Amino acid sequence: MRENQAAYNSEAVIGQYRQMHDLQRPERAIIKETEERLRACRLLDIGVGAGRTTPHFGRDAAYYLGIDSAPQMIQACTENDHYQRDTYHFRVMDAVNMLELDEAPFDYALFSYNGIDLVDDSERRIIFNNLKKMLKHDGCLVFSSHNILSLNDLFCIHRYDTSMSLLRNIYWLLKERYYRRLFEQQHPPWPPDIDFKLIHDGSINFKTITYYIRPSFQIRQLQEHGFHSIRAFSISGAEIMLKDLDLITDPWVYFLCFNA
Ligand SMILES: C[S@@+](CC[C@H](N)C(=O)[O-])C[C@H]1O[C@@H](n2cnc3c(N)ncnc32)[C@H](O)[C@@H]1O
Repeated sequence: MRENQAAYNSEAVIGQYRQMHDLQRPERAIIKETEERLRACRLLDIGVGAGRTTPHFGRDAAYYLGIDSAPQMIQACTENDHYQRDTYHFRVMDAVNMLELDEAPFDYALFSYNGIDLVDDSERRIIFNNLKKMLKHDGCLVFSSHNILSLNDLFCIHRYDTSMSLLRNIYWLLKERYYRRLFEQQHPPWPPDIDFKLIHDGSINFKTITYYIRPSFQIRQLQEHGFHSIRAFSISGAEIMLKDLDLITDPWVYFLCFNA
């Protein structure tokens, strides 16, 4: 979506992403699970941002390609002295059009930190279709997606942000209330009886619109696209049993699965 792509190409956002270096716990757990596969693999890191995941996932890759639709994010990667390795490559590219990449097939694809939630449902399906074609047989796909079952918490608790002024906190609170009311009017029962929804969740000053999905529906979406052996990981890094997926209220869930 255009407005999301523009938001991630702004100096302020890139500044924040340049400061991020650490892995999230589920990412650490998945690296441990897939250590062997990461060795000497061909890896595609989609929505690479400023390269937070590059040294962790890409360290042992034979060929690592980071793509992002935001040119400024890619510039942040290519300018980073730590990412000057023969095996590291970065390119401006929209995941919706990534079939144009000559570098396929890949052994491993990563779309970390909910990057896939920045496109709408039809583009999301195009991306899964693209991945199906670009990954080798039994190639590995890792990504995370926002959990629709976390929305109650997201809208309920206004987290007072001490780095912002009182006025700004009030502005934030009012915006959150507005979007909560809008959501409740559209979907009166809780938990919502819908499988996914695009909402303004407050990210990047309410400039972006983000896809939230029911975790069990994410499993179905992946199966429909021919991915198998699907596993899910919580924010704590623990594996979630698939039967318990719709009890989880984590803000996002990490998925690990394999191409048929
Ligand atoms: C939440 S950031 C995550 C950045 C990085 N992967 C990380 O984990 O730190 C999402 C990234 O996805 C990129 N992005 C959004 N839509 C995209 C698309 N359609 N194709 C490629 N990249 C996209 C954004 O520009 C942004 O850099």
